Amino acid sequence: MRIETLAVHAGHPIDPATGAVAPPIYLSTTFERQADGSYPQGYNYIRDNNPNRDALEKCLSELEAGVATAAFSSGSAATMSVFQALLPGNHVIAPLDAYSGTSSLLREIFVPWNLSVTFVDMTNPKEVQQAIQPNTRLIWLETPSNPMLKITDIGKIADIAHQANALCVCDNTWATPIGQSPLNNGADLVVHSTTKYLGGHSDVMGGAVITKVEDDFFNTIRKIQKTGGAIASPFDAWLVLRGIQTLPYRMRAHSENALKVATFLSHHSKIEAVHYPGLQQHPGHEIAASQMHLFGGMLSFQVKGGKEAAFAVAAKVKIFTRATSLGGVESLIEHRASIEGPKTKTPENLLRVSIGLEHPDDLIEDLIQALE
Ligand SMILES: Cc1ncc(COP(=O)(O)O)c(C=O)c1O
Repeated sequence: MRIETLAVHAGHPIDPATGAVAPPIYLSTTFERQADGSYPQGYNYIRDNNPNRDALEKCLSELEAGVATAAFSSGSAATMSVFQALLPGNHVIAPLDAYSGTSSLLREIFVPWNLSVTFVDMTNPKEVQQAIQPNTRLIWLETPSNPMLKITDIGKIADIAHQANALCVCDNTWATPIGQSPLNNGADLVVHSTTKYLGGHSDVMGGAVITKVEDDFFNTIRKIQKTGGAIASPFDAWLVLRGIQTLPYRMRAHSENALKVATFLSHHSKIEAVHYPGLQQHPGHEIAASQMHLFGGMLSFQVKGGKEAAFAVAAKVKIFTRATSLGGVESLIEHRASIEGPKTKTPENLLRVSIGLEHPDDLIEDLIQALE
């Protein structure tokens, strides 16, 4: 089945009890045990499993071409479970420009728990190769990266990881399974913040880890999910599953709109640089074109005149909302350096935008007046 069909039907059986086309939400925290001690429907307690979470996990496994998924209460909880599944003394290689929350988790939570981490330019396979140590167990990558939209060659990094007996994990939040299929490109695990495009409407938080093989490492992630309890709630799982039904069509429109806005910005005299992998002049365009089906709805640009000029543009927009996050139907604009804090390497004149589903000409007109 093609991905549009999977998005509508995977994890969406007609409810056998009532014939309901939209799935019911099962809020029950506990399930009846039979006199013989068994649970014939397979459910016993909400932290262990729940029909809505099962449905979401089934759907995500199919969309990402994986075999199993663990759905979490946030993208960060999903990310944490991957690092928690490692052992003290293990070494991780991560991108210098990883999502700032992921870098903070590594630096502030996991280094004190005795993981060691080397941050590298993940777009440079030689640098990644040189960072390998005998105890390297995992390489984490994000492509496109946040907020510079750098492109990493998933297949090359996965090869380096596998030669070192390490796992390759790809945060696929920005591209989504519609834009890119990391497991088919060699990655072992995919992580999502479902808070973004998968939910798609800025009204639900969640995360997921999808695996290519159900091995000991994934079983540990599953154990962390079930025993730690940072699970996707039934309603949150239901909302994400609903969002996914329209994901393929939303991603096409996000990508089309983003390319139009990026092209407009690339010709504007007040813009110093535009970062969007769909532009031919983007340094990662060729790799992006070879591993992405769509270039996505995220882009960033640098305004001539420094931080003040960037703030002035963000202050003048009328359709874009000044807010963090991404992946909803509404366009958002954000001065990223000030959100990331004093240690950030993000240029002070950079604005990151999440291009929504408004008409692209309205977005362009809004930017024209804001740049005046
Ligand atoms: C690429 C990426 N990964 C992970 C996360 C964390 O997800 P959450 O906010 O759902 O915890 C984010 C959040 O912005 C993100 O952009």
